[in-house]
Amino acid sequence: MTTKQALYVSGLNVSFGNFAVLKNLSWTVDFGEVRGVIGPNGAGKTTLLDSLTGKTKYQSGDIYVKDTVSIKNLTEIEIAKLGIGRKFQKPSVFSGLSGFQNLEIALRAGHSRSIYQPKLTSRQREKIHETSELIGLSSELSRNAGTLAHGQKQWLEIGMLIIAEPSVILLDEPVAGMNSEERGKTAELISNIRGPNIAVVVVEHDMEFVGQVCDTVTVLHDGRVMIEGPMGVVQADPQVIDVYLGKEAASASSH
Ligand SMILES: Nc1ncnc2c1ncn2[C@@H]1O[C@H](COP(=O)(O)OP(=O)(O)O)[C@@H](O)[C@H]1O
Ligand SMILES: [Mg+2]
Repeated sequence: MTTKQALYVSGLNVSFGNFAVLKNLSWTVDFGEVRGVIGPNGAGKTTLLDSLTGKTKYQSGDIYVKDTVSIKNLTEIEIAKLGIGRKFQKPSVFSGLSGFQNLEIALRAGHSRSIYQPKLTSRQREKIHETSELIGLSSELSRNAGTLAHGQKQWLEIGMLIIAEPSVILLDEPVAGMNSEERGKTAELISNIRGPNIAVVVVEHDMEFVGQVCDTVTVLHDGRVMIEGPMGVVQADPQVIDVYLGKEAASASSH
């Protein structure tokens, strides 16, 4: 591996009309990291993810992936092909298809551009089974995805991301709506996904979860990085307590 920085955001400005959301934001994430991004509602967390995937275009500054590749002029599809995978907050699996079929679609998406779908190779089948084991759904693979529990749908969607072997995965509130057992399993899943050739970015409000899975936490506030560091340091920072954690405790689930 010669590249080190999975993501390099440089002086990024994003606005909607006259309303500036990301303000000269500079930020990096290295390969091998699991990075948490926290901050009050409206801080710009989702807009940052939208910018990283090309869903939202930035006005100035730039985003580089894998050290040198600017995504400025790339489409969402081209950015996805660079290996940037993103999971939205709401699970979006194909509910009428089985877990196996969902993983199959995700696997094929990275490989075939043709409508004609050849039979899966034995290596591809193996890959689907490996992934289903990783996400804890081996025994549920033939079930319609629509009948899976909320947590299982989320894991299936994470499986659909990782089966494409991305370089970066962006997770927007992965444990929202999960019970504590499901949150624990998701933490375990993320620690199994992590590795030297992947960067994982987790946007979350659940501080316990962030502390468990992330090495470094970035606090976004008003479109800027307020502080970055280990969870213990960030949580004890008076400014962070003032703008975020104090209020978060009072309105834990309003987002
Ligand atoms: N498409 C959009 N058009 C106008 N304003 C938007 C749009 N998307 C987000 N915003 C505004 O940008 C700010 C940041 O939003 P967002 O990135 O969703 O914050 P977060 O995810 O941190 O809660 C909010 O004030 C939001 O209303
Ligand atoms: Mg958001």
